[in-house]
Amino acid sequence: MAKILDGKWVREEILKECLPRVAKFRETYGRAPGLAVILAGENPASEIYVRNKVATCQELGIHSEKYTPPGTVSNAELLALIAELNRRPEIDGILVQMPLPKQVDSRAALEAVAPEKDVDGFHPFNTGRLAAGAPGPRPCTPAGVMELLRRYEIPIEGRRAVIVGRSDIVGKPMALLLLHQHATVTICHSRTRELAGECARADILVAAIGRPAFLGAGFIRPGAVVIDVGINRLTDRAQVESVFTGNQKKLAAFEKSGSVIVGDVHPGAAEEAGAYTPVPGGVGLLTVAMLMVNTIEAAERRMAGA
Ligand code: GUN
Repeated sequence: MAKILDGKWVREEILKECLPRVAKFRETYGRAPGLAVILAGENPASEIYVRNKVATCQELGIHSEKYTPPGTVSNAELLALIAELNRRPEIDGILVQMPLPKQVDSRAALEAVAPEKDVDGFHPFNTGRLAAGAPGPRPCTPAGVMELLRRYEIPIEGRRAVIVGRSDIVGKPMALLLLHQHATVTICHSRTRELAGECARADILVAAIGRPAFLGAGFIRPGAVVIDVGINRLTDRAQVESVFTGNQKKLAAFEKSGSVIVGDVHPGAAEEAGAYTPVPGGVGLLTVAMLMVNTIEAAERRMAGA
């Protein structure tokens, strides 16, 4: 039986360690760390993520503010909002939820956030620091994966790590973080030839392509550690039945709600692994936990004048 890497446990551990840091910050500076979240337009998935972020701030006693400009927001309006948040001393972190509405220049928005308030690690100043191995905020999802590997004491040095997906948010920073821990890193993507063969060489396989149950039998070396970053909602009955054949619990859940969540790894294939992160209940829970860590660190750094 493959071992399950429990995202909920890792999340709780990370949040538990945040509590004394928030308390100490309050004691020292007479206020809580502050996070501003900008959610522009309407996107049901983003709304759920942002709700989780705000709720987790509350759980830890971090001050949070949510801004919800309409889907028709202009570049200038969004940049003005970011500029105002950059100026406010009690706001330590600014998060611009992606994706932004089509008419908005996402790059300009990310670059407008003051680097010292960039809790996503998406500003080019901070992606540069990551590439150079210098300290700075790291993108939350890959940082969460590193925390999970560390807390489960999964060795990285000298191991072959294969990442499927080359996004700026997950794939690229994930590769750099693993490389800095001395893994031998391969990045694969939709145009990689013989993808299954590349994946099957991995000691650590990270799936981050956003395609439901895409990595199937033949992609996973028996005994590998499989990290599934995908969160895909299935609403098509035939697809649900094909992915979850014989899984009465999932089929019943689909009947009840009309959808089920599946990762990028086929649930049957995951059983080949030595250990894997389930979906849901794996990496997804860590992103918000790492956002809290990045917010606290940004607050500490700013106030210490570092
Ligand atoms: N959209 C999907 N993931 C993320 C994330 O980690 N941060 C932001 N800002 N937007 C996202």
